[in-house]
Amino acid sequence: MCGIVGYVGQREAADVLLDGLSRLEYRGYDSAGIAVFENEIIKVAKSKGRLADLQAKMQKEGKPSGHAGIGHTRWATHGEPSDRNSHPHGGGNVTLVHNGIIENYKKLKEFLLSKGRKFESDTDTEVIAQLLDYYYEEHHGNPVEAIVKTLKELEGSYALGIVFADFPDRVFAMRKESPLIVGIGENECFIASDMTAILKYTKNYYLLEPGEIAVLSRQGAKVYNLHYQKIEKELKTADWDVSAAEKGGYEHYMLKEIHEQPESIKKTITPRIENGLPNLEECGITPEKLLEFNKIHIVACGTAMHAGMVGKYVIEKLAKISVNVDIASEFRYREPLVGEGDLVIVISQSGETADSLAALRLSKELGAKTLAIVNAKGSSIAREADMLIYTHAGPEIAVASTKAYMVQIAVMYLFAFELALANKKIDETECRRLTALLQGTPDKISEILEHKEMTQLIASELITADSLLYIGRGLDYALSMEGSLKLKEISYIHSESYAAGELKHGTISLITENMPVIAVATQQNLFDKTISNIKEVKARGARVVLVSRESYQPEKDVADFKFGLPDYEDLLMPMLAVVPLQLIAYYTAVLKGTDVDKPRNLAKSVTVE
Ligand code: F6R
Repeated sequence: MCGIVGYVGQREAADVLLDGLSRLEYRGYDSAGIAVFENEIIKVAKSKGRLADLQAKMQKEGKPSGHAGIGHTRWATHGEPSDRNSHPHGGGNVTLVHNGIIENYKKLKEFLLSKGRKFESDTDTEVIAQLLDYYYEEHHGNPVEAIVKTLKELEGSYALGIVFADFPDRVFAMRKESPLIVGIGENECFIASDMTAILKYTKNYYLLEPGEIAVLSRQGAKVYNLHYQKIEKELKTADWDVSAAEKGGYEHYMLKEIHEQPESIKKTITPRIENGLPNLEECGITPEKLLEFNKIHIVACGTAMHAGMVGKYVIEKLAKISVNVDIASEFRYREPLVGEGDLVIVISQSGETADSLAALRLSKELGAKTLAIVNAKGSSIAREADMLIYTHAGPEIAVASTKAYMVQIAVMYLFAFELALANKKIDETECRRLTALLQGTPDKISEILEHKEMTQLIASELITADSLLYIGRGLDYALSMEGSLKLKEISYIHSESYAAGELKHGTISLITENMPVIAVATQQNLFDKTISNIKEVKARGARVVLVSRESYQPEKDVADFKFGLPDYEDLLMPMLAVVPLQLIAYYTAVLKGTDVDKPRNLAKSVTVE
């Protein structure tokens, strides 16, 4: 939800800002803009559309030149995507960029209008700029005091990058809910919504906590709290390198990230396996602790929720504990029956998803213990949970999640194995066997990635469809949810996932030759049943794509296309079967010519509810 960058140093600020924005564009791409001090005067360039549109505009009209400035890439909340609603926004001495939402902006706007202030946009952001300028005047030109005063008035979530016309060699920043880091280089400082924007220049950074204000100059960054007291921050070092945030020869980030999955699994599980058994102690999870929980809830959004669905099947099957899976936006408002003795697992790639964060906070309030499974280091969900398992997928840039999902389910397996062993539903030998099989999945996935041609052929068959169904049973059903979401979000072809046995209770009436069906059938005990469901749709004219084991040979003509998977343990088949589903979605989108890495209307990190 919007990306922010800021720079002060010796480099050409516009270049640093545009480069940073190009790496943050996945967070929003309705419009982009920068503000740079040129000869001590703030020059703003902004445009509706992609960063490329802004660059084209600047080529015609000129690029501001100077050594300090701020930049923004927008996912519209208040006000349609347009030039005038694009950030940065100004008010008198103040120009700023904003990530988040100001909930009480109407009231504040009325107050400012009553003071004779004029507005040029429909955004909540301009209200912050005007209010800040108002207090800046009231505080006789002390920027930090004016920021403190303004922040006390704002309700909602926000991170801000600010410049004051009176301070041409400074960039100011602050955050409440929305993430923001301060990068520290040699004689230069940066702000960014995430590390990928500035990795090229520095790996050293401060993580701003909610309520902290940073003042950046070439000499370094000073951080203050809301009482205007200076705070000593711990300088952290990112363990990602620049290549992790670049395409590395792939046409799209999504394809690169699909190929990174074997490595991501290894990085995530290897440090959590000791003597062949799962060991989650460094994450605050011990066998004794696991035995304290009566009920398990998994709460997440979108793809992360689908990873939770796989988790549910695996935990229930192995550990024999019932698991509720909830969509975070539903959970938080439906008075969930959660309390002491329960464990709430929140899964999130970004660690900043507003609904998931709210669900985590609510669970804590209700007395449950919380476990976060998060990819982004230092994110809000990671910091606030009682226990934390980081997934080590590295930066995921494509909006459609692939490798993050893969490592989320890898963690679900490790967790389920440890839990099942702790409550004696499996013995140590079985736990070792399953753990070894989990360790074997990266090689199997690499094998699949080497033989992906069939997914291209299947994609070429799907591009003419207006609508598709994904079906499966058990774990295959959990997986088909993810396959369906992946396809629709990037190819814009409508699709739904259905439990295969549920079709005949209504949905089968939709089946015609124009509605292809993708059937996932990897579970040995359910194979014949799913094949019967396939026959039912086939008899009604559907073209069928079967994703199943290579060794399963259904009768002739059951499926029009088949993607064959290597034989592996039933329980672990989702980790293999998701790969062709991701590739089918990817190639369908490529053939349809959509913007694969940045599908329309979406943003990577959903920090508003
Ligand atoms: C889809 C996708 C989204 C996210 C969802 C939650 O490909 O990526 O559905 O899974 O927005 O995001 P996180 O995991 O950051 O909480």
